[in-house]
Amino acid sequence: MLFGKSKGLIGLDVGSSSIKLVELKPHKGDSKWKLVNIGLVSLSPEVIVDGSIMDATMVVDAIAQLFGENKVKGGDVAISVSGHSVIIKKITMAYMAEEELAESIRWEAESYIPFDIDDVNLDYQVLDEADRGDGNMDVLLVAAKKEKVSEYVSVVQQAGKTPVVVDVDSFALQNSLTANYELSDLQVTALINIGASVMNINIMQGNNPIFWRDISFGGNIYTDAIQKDLGVDFDTAEQLKRGESVEGFDFERVIPIIKSVTVDLGVEVQKTFDFFKATTSAEKINRIMMTGGSSKILNLDEFLSERFEAPVEMLNPFQNITYSEKQFNPELIHEIKASAAIAVGLAMRRANDK
Ligand SMILES: Nc1ncnc2c1ncn2[C@@H]1O[C@H](COP(=O)(O)OP(=O)(O)OP(=O)(O)O)[C@@H](O)[C@H]1O
Ligand SMILES: [Mg+2]
Repeated sequence: MLFGKSKGLIGLDVGSSSIKLVELKPHKGDSKWKLVNIGLVSLSPEVIVDGSIMDATMVVDAIAQLFGENKVKGGDVAISVSGHSVIIKKITMAYMAEEELAESIRWEAESYIPFDIDDVNLDYQVLDEADRGDGNMDVLLVAAKKEKVSEYVSVVQQAGKTPVVVDVDSFALQNSLTANYELSDLQVTALINIGASVMNINIMQGNNPIFWRDISFGGNIYTDAIQKDLGVDFDTAEQLKRGESVEGFDFERVIPIIKSVTVDLGVEVQKTFDFFKATTSAEKINRIMMTGGSSKILNLDEFLSERFEAPVEMLNPFQNITYSEKQFNPELIHEIKASAAIAVGLAMRRANDK
């Protein structure tokens, strides 16, 4: 967790195409969870562009609407940020006691962070508590631009809610994965979240995250390409992309457009995997887990599986979450499953305090 402590938080994922809300409580008697609240409200594409909030009022209203419609009582919220304003790095430094580390971390961090250190919120965690004998220790360093954090904090506050925790998308995603799946220490899993404007790639060795990258590539690129090639507006292109029928357009015309963007997406993933292999000792990615609304792009799973010679599975963030079918429509849950992983990971923050 980046900045703050938590108990009983509502996970709020402010994405560029929609805002997702998830509230959970621990399930009695086991390590599972129970769904208390879930909701999603769409945003038009000009409201948040490439992670920047262009129309704060619309976002504030959407958050208020989400709480109102779903009758959410609590107001303590966990949110997250991602993209170019966030840097996550595992660094190796000379072993030192905690107090000394607290004093020197800013200075240490300066050489790893491409921003002015005064412009970022910094957090860190020692990864190997025990002295490992070589006089060094690994530290996980997280820096998020203050400007970006306050942009997101501010809309939540204006909606009358209290942002208690500001996390990063990658950690919330990992949380969602490890809470729902057993990962063998021998396995390297690439968790790929593809939203509307950002793709987060997290690589894990068993339960341990070892590599992070956010890439500006998402579902909007598909929509743009369809808009341009077929001369249609955003909404029509979105429908066509999802395979919904639109009068006058045959899905056959959309397939090659989708395919060519998927090839570009493959190149971006390849670059990241190559960089990962060059900078870590891991040799192979054993499996790919996909999430995010754009993981539903036609044949994307098959394409990635063939290209990277690894099985591809869709992450189910509700695998270990039970819910009342009277209260929540299973079809609705199924529909928003792909978009809910970050909000689920954020909602679990209560029990995972550091
Ligand atoms: N069935 C579908 N087929 C293809 N794409 C889909 C489908 N359903 C949703 N999408 C796409 O998924 C994207 C939204 O996913 P998600 O909710 O994960 O993104 P977001 O969190 O709003 O965006 P970001 O995290 O990039 O800011 C949109 O681009 C949308 O068009
Ligand atoms: Mg998202």
